[in-house]
Amino acid sequence: MSRKINTEILIVGAGISGLLAGLELAKKYSVMILSKSKTNKCSTAWAQGGIAAAIKNKNDINHHVEDTITNGHGICDINTVKDIIKQGEKSIYLLQEHGVNFNKNGEELDQTLEGGHSARRIIYHNDNTGEEIHTKLLRKAINNKNIVIKEDLMAIDLIGNKNDLCHGLYAYDETTESVVTISSNVVILATGGASKVYQYTTNPDTSTGDGIAMAWRFGCVISNMEFMQFHPTCLYHTSEKSFLISESLRGEGAKLLNPDGKYFMQDYDQRMELAPRDVVARAIDSEMKNNNYKCVYLDISFKDPNYIKKRFPNIYQRCLNLNIDITNQSIPVVPAAHYTCGGINTNVAGETECSNLFAIGECTHTGFHGANRLASNSLLECSVMATECSKLIDKKYKSFCNDYDLPLWDDSYVTIPRVENVQISHNWAEIRKIMWDYVGILRSDKMLGQAKERLSIINTEVDEFYHNHRISVDLLELRNLINIAEIITNSALKRKESRGLHYNKDYPSCVRDFNKFTNIVSTKKDFIMKIVSKA
Ligand code: SIN
Repeated sequence: MSRKINTEILIVGAGISGLLAGLELAKKYSVMILSKSKTNKCSTAWAQGGIAAAIKNKNDINHHVEDTITNGHGICDINTVKDIIKQGEKSIYLLQEHGVNFNKNGEELDQTLEGGHSARRIIYHNDNTGEEIHTKLLRKAINNKNIVIKEDLMAIDLIGNKNDLCHGLYAYDETTESVVTISSNVVILATGGASKVYQYTTNPDTSTGDGIAMAWRFGCVISNMEFMQFHPTCLYHTSEKSFLISESLRGEGAKLLNPDGKYFMQDYDQRMELAPRDVVARAIDSEMKNNNYKCVYLDISFKDPNYIKKRFPNIYQRCLNLNIDITNQSIPVVPAAHYTCGGINTNVAGETECSNLFAIGECTHTGFHGANRLASNSLLECSVMATECSKLIDKKYKSFCNDYDLPLWDDSYVTIPRVENVQISHNWAEIRKIMWDYVGILRSDKMLGQAKERLSIINTEVDEFYHNHRISVDLLELRNLINIAEIITNSALKRKESRGLHYNKDYPSCVRDFNKFTNIVSTKKDFIMKIVSKA
């Protein structure tokens, strides 16, 4: 049975961006936060490394700016980079005010190193920084009387009118198997990334690009989706498919070896294991493909076992549970999809070109990451965007009047029951394999063209499922995934050069004229209002 609810501010996603924005806005407004599954199933809670932040008197902001721009391979938005980085220290203090603990060295915050950084500037909590942040923010949000958190409610599509105004959205309630119409003065998408579109990923199952796909169907501009970041070191194990082995191990000296026990990074880059992620991931991919290796190895066992257990307690224990003792064995690793550098076009305050619709965090493209995100810059971007977005909303909206008469979801004409599970899981697996094999670390025009053709067949099938059958979370995610897969592939086909995370062997070099290639854009303007009913 369809029903309606309303709120002043609606936030989709309960990771760091959604929770921080919610906590700020709840000082004045009533806030509803949607989580499509349980709130702990988000990338934030899985983040290990830390937050890159130049701390006054210890680090130089200008060097952090330079490192970010160098890693971004010439297409970062310089003003955005400066704007975000100069707010690093403030963001750390804000998180501390919310109860987040970071490791200290004496009285001062300790800082570690990761690839691409020219100085130790990563603030961290052991090897589970994201979990620490997420637990503390979530606890605060749960106890805030102006915040309602709704779990198991998955946003389907935005509702708006022809003037590009967003008035709310439809959401699928998994518990009652019905669709809720939520009207809201402001909608903030904080839905995270889309790495689940690849067969191997370090992300939780929830990273299906929902916000990006929804915004694209609504008519928003989506940019630079060809830049999907592959993390060099995901654990290679049959029963633990997505466990990240944090880059901070390499920051603390860990070395990469091939299965014969030989170091190989010296053959690829003089910065060796601390080269930027795109370089290290491509080096591993090339070692594996050229030599038919199933994985390579990361070794930190030469360090004092007590240091390893204290500095990386979580990784130590998770590996030990799988009979890998990292204090005396090297760790089998492979690259895996990790971060979505492109996304919904916004400024630092999360404004989209559609009134009342904001987007923050990994689902956005602000120009901060360019063609390759610098390690630990993501939680920084999320915190700054959440704060800036809340400030802007507070300034922009003097009063709220939520009297939109939004139509109820209408699926009365749908007579066919749910799609068979196997039809959904088969398509999921096929999309993820196509993306891994043809639109992965190494691309070519031929492979991208083949991916495009196959994805288009799947898209037609998924469209038929969506329009004629009863919906489910799996079907909604599949619909988002196929949209995302096509956007990434089309964007990759349009970029006739190699830059950062996008490597096309038909165009192995970088085109000098940066401006011409800054944004590869994808839009679907004509979709607006088709979503009022499934018909
Ligand atoms: C890591 O710990 O290696 C991940 C940090 C990041 O992705 O920024």
